[in-house]
Amino acid sequence: MRTIVFGLIFFLISVSIAESINDCEDPNFHSLETLESSKLECGPAFKNRCRCFRTCYDGHHQYVVNCTGTGFQDTSPLAHLPNETQVLIFTGNELEELPWNVFGTLDSLPYLRVIDMSNNKIREIRGKAYHHVQHVERLILDFNELSLDPARNHPRVFSNFISLLELHLTDAFEDGPPRNLASTLHDIFVNSNLTQLIKLHLEQNEISEFRDVNVFCDLPNLLDLHLGDNDLNALHFNLSCLHNLRFLDLQRNKFARILERDLHIMDNLAKHDRNVTVDFSDNPFECSCKLNPFIKWMKKTKVFIRNKANLQCYKGNVSYDFHETKNCAPKLLVSARRGTTVVLCFLSIVLIALVCALVYLQRTMLQKKIEPVLDSVSKRVRYTSIANGDTREDV
Ligand SMILES: *[C@@H]1O[C@H](CO)[C@@H](O)[C@H](O)[C@H]1NC(C)=O
Ligand SMILES: *[C@@H]1O[C@H](CO)[C@@H](O)[C@H](O)[C@H]1NC(C)=O
Ligand SMILES: *[C@@H]1O[C@H](CO)[C@@H](O)[C@H](O)[C@H]1NC(C)=O
Ligand SMILES: *[C@@H]1O[C@H](CO)[C@@H](O)[C@H](O)[C@H]1NC(C)=O
Ligand SMILES: *[C@@H]1O[C@H](CO)[C@@H](O)[C@H](O)[C@H]1NC(C)=O
Ligand SMILES: *[C@@H]1O[C@H](CO)[C@@H](O)[C@H](O)[C@H]1NC(C)=O
Repeated sequence: MRTIVFGLIFFLISVSIAESINDCEDPNFHSLETLESSKLECGPAFKNRCRCFRTCYDGHHQYVVNCTGTGFQDTSPLAHLPNETQVLIFTGNELEELPWNVFGTLDSLPYLRVIDMSNNKIREIRGKAYHHVQHVERLILDFNELSLDPARNHPRVFSNFISLLELHLTDAFEDGPPRNLASTLHDIFVNSNLTQLIKLHLEQNEISEFRDVNVFCDLPNLLDLHLGDNDLNALHFNLSCLHNLRFLDLQRNKFARILERDLHIMDNLAKHDRNVTVDFSDNPFECSCKLNPFIKWMKKTKVFIRNKANLQCYKGNVSYDFHETKNCAPKLLVSARRGTTVVLCFLSIVLIALVCALVYLQRTMLQKKIEPVLDSVSKRVRYTSIANGDTREDV
């Protein structure tokens, strides 16, 4: 017994030691580089404001250049990045505009894989800003102010990212009108070569619909589409062109119910044994008969519904767990009856209008036909009145 317990303890200890050796956060590794030496390593262009060092990023030891909150107002240091750079973090600065050739004119960054330029107040990215980025796999531009003004947005901004796997555009665009985000995005996707892209983040962009339904159709390899924290209330965009989609994030949008059409769209995604996951958590669903088809669908669909526990419906401002609303049929009948009345009224109006139109079109012919009749009538009236006059005179 004792040997078993000791064996177990020994096993646990050796596993945890093995893990700490594998772990990229190994403290011995960090001490190789001090803060000062990592600042010097960046070179004079970085003015001692950044750190350039091998560190843990994404679970691997990588050469990271970290310029976070360094107060740069332009990207000039980036033309002098150390050529072994694998990860560039250039965030929390005040850039306004990315000029041509942010990384210089020499193709000298063979290992660059990640560019994080979030939170830089970027409004405009020139068409030729990103060059020599053919190996970059992740581009993060979250929390910027990218302009939707056609004069200031350049559809070819991402055209050189031919290896891009992840594009992060959370709250990346300016707020308020003109909100032409859909056509801007479509132009960008059509004009870029994002055929490898598997993850697209578009959270927090106040998207209510896409004017171009095929906005994502130029991203044939897309696996994960993140549209959380927007204003969508239906699937107003074409998903049937995304043959590999496996996750659709629609958390915290404006869905009050799910249209039957959208249920079919999702069922079609899950065809051919594709494991498709959707997330509708924290949408303002209405507790009403209109929710019943969705609730019934959830019980039988092959689509995996993530965070089912976060699905609530609201009556007034009180939230309830999802439940099927009973006694929906009478209401349906009433609405059907109301519907027929409306249709009848409408048809009558159409009929009257048609008759009027017919009369109007045939007016000359009718006139010709009616005039003799009228004439004879009026003549007869005249004659009779004359005759009457005669009789009166006679009296
Ligand atoms: C980059 O630097 C910032 C601030 O110095 C720090 O908070 C952040 O963790 C660093 N990132 C990495 C990946 O080292
Ligand atoms: C990186 O630059 C150094 C000099 O700055 C040079 O010696 C080295 O060959 C370069 N490495 C690559 C892979 O370009
Ligand atoms: C897109 O990239 C591929 C290689 O990944 C290339 O063969 C193709 O010509 C590029 N298309 C355009 C329009 O740049
Ligand atoms: C959606 O995409 C599919 C596949 O590319 C296409 O056949 C279909 O016409 C598109 N639907 C709309 C409404 O454009
Ligand atoms: C489908 O994917 C979800 C989330 O990725 C996972 O939890 C679930 O187990 C998968 N289902 C199948 C049948 O593979
Ligand atoms: C619901 O809204 C009413 C006013 O619209 C308010 O008086 C009430 O306190 C709210 N109830 C809850 C639970 O928030």
